Amino acid sequence: MTAPSSAPIVRLRGVDKVFAARDGARTVALQGIDLDIAPGEFVSLIGPSGCGKSTLLRIIGDLVQATTGEVTVNGKPADRARRDRDYGMVFQAPVLFDWRSVEDNVRLPLEILGRDKAWRVERARQMLDLVDLGEFTKHMPYQLSGGMQQRVAIARALSFEPRILLMDEPFGALDEMTRERLNDEVLRIWEQTGTTIVFVTHSIPEAVFLSSRVVVMSPRPGRITKIVDIDLPRPRTDAIRESEAYFARITEVREALRAGGGHAGSGAGGAGGADGSGAGGDAGEAAGVAGTASARRTAAEGAVG
Ligand SMILES: Nc1ncnc2c1ncn2[C@@H]1O[C@H](COP(=O)(O)OP(=O)(O)OP(=O)(O)O)[C@@H](O)[C@H]1O
Ligand SMILES: [Mg+2]
Repeated sequence: MTAPSSAPIVRLRGVDKVFAARDGARTVALQGIDLDIAPGEFVSLIGPSGCGKSTLLRIIGDLVQATTGEVTVNGKPADRARRDRDYGMVFQAPVLFDWRSVEDNVRLPLEILGRDKAWRVERARQMLDLVDLGEFTKHMPYQLSGGMQQRVAIARALSFEPRILLMDEPFGALDEMTRERLNDEVLRIWEQTGTTIVFVTHSIPEAVFLSSRVVVMSPRPGRITKIVDIDLPRPRTDAIRESEAYFARITEVREALRAGGGHAGSGAGGAGGADGSGAGGDAGEAAGVAGTASARRTAAEGAVG
C-alpha cells in the first residue's frame, strides 16, 4: 500500500456507515475506511455487489453522510466542497432532467456556473460529439436508450471540468466497443485536465487499465482489504492491454478480491466485462438516487456540483 506523497484531495479517516431501517434493522455498509487520494490520481473502487462502493462514493460527494469518521475534500468538509462545485458525478443509473433536451441537460452545470451562452452552446456540442451523440442534441431523454442516456450524463459531468469526478459504474450498461472508447476518452480528458477521478467498477480489467491505484473492498460490511498500485506506463494504449505487466496486475487484483471474500468479477481475457450483479443497481441504489422525486433532485444537484 503506497500512500500518495502530496497533500490528499480526498481524505477519509475511520469512516463507518450504518443504514437504519424504519423497523430498527441496521445495515453496516462501511467499516473503518481510511483512504487518501492525491490530486490528479485515478483511483478505482472494486468489490462485490453490496459492499458499499456507491455508498463510499456518495460519502465523498456529500450525498450521504458518514455515521462516524472524518471526510475532507480539497482541504475542507465534503459539504463545503459540494457547495463550491468541486465535484462532477456520474451515477450507476443516469440521472437526467426529463423535461430538458439532451443539449440542455449538458449545458445545465455551465448555466449554474454562469458561463456565457456562446460557451455553453459550444461546450455542449463538443461534449456530445465526444460521446457520439452529436445527432441527438435536440432529443428528450425518454427518446434515448439507457446507454445513450448514460453517455449524456457523462458528457454533462465532463462539461465543466470539475476538480473531482466521481463515477459510479458509468460504463456498465454500454457495449464493449463504446466502453473501451469511452475508457480512452476519460483517460485523455483526465490527462489533459489533471482532474482527480474516483471510479467504481465491477470489471477488474477496466480498473487496472484506467487506474493509478485500485482499492479492493471486502463483502459487507465494506472494508478496504488491499490497495494495488498500477505502475503501468502512461499513456495507456491498446498495447498495454496485451502486456504481461497488465495481466500480472489483473491477477493481483483478482487474488486480493478472492482473499477478501469477494468474487473475482470478469476474467483477464474479458476486458471490460462486468459481472452483471451490479449493473442494474440494487434496492439501495434505487432508494438512494432514483426512488423519489426529491432523491432524484438531490442526485441531480450533486451531478452538477
Ligand atoms: N439509502 C440506503 N438505505 C438503506 N440501505 C442502503 C442505502 N444505500 C445502500 N444501502 C445498503 O448498503 C449496502 C451497500 O450498498 P451500495 O449501494 O453502496 O453497494 P455497492 O457496492 O455499490 O453495490 P453494487 O455493486 O451492487 O452497486 C447494501 O447492503 C445496501 O442495501
Ligand atoms: Mg453501486
